[in-house]
Amino acid sequence: MVRVIFELRDGRCIECRGYIGESVMDVALDNGIPGIAARCGGAGHCTTCHAYVDAGWAAALDPPRADEREMLRGLRGRRPPSQLTRRLTCQIALHDGLDGIVVHTD
Ligand code: FES
Repeated sequence: MVRVIFELRDGRCIECRGYIGESVMDVALDNGIPGIAARCGGAGHCTTCHAYVDAGWAAALDPPRADEREMLRGLRGRRPPSQLTRRLTCQIALHDGLDGIVVHTD
């Protein structure tokens, strides 16, 4: 299993575990992580699963596809600090290289 550490807006950290191939969104929903609504169920159409990933982990992620980039461009609200990268958690599939990834919720 792959460890995913969610850092919430209030500063709390919740460590969860997910299976390889599951999305970070799946892990968030399974564990009731606040801030990840995932209203489209992972279809990539709503952005309610967006979160921020530490830049240190960004290299281990597959780059966002054009449709994810387009959805993220349409997001308003809090701008991520420079060391964080905004992503749709439904588009991040877990693999061994992501063990211990830190995901900041919005
Ligand atoms: S769950 Fe809707 S875009 Fe990720």
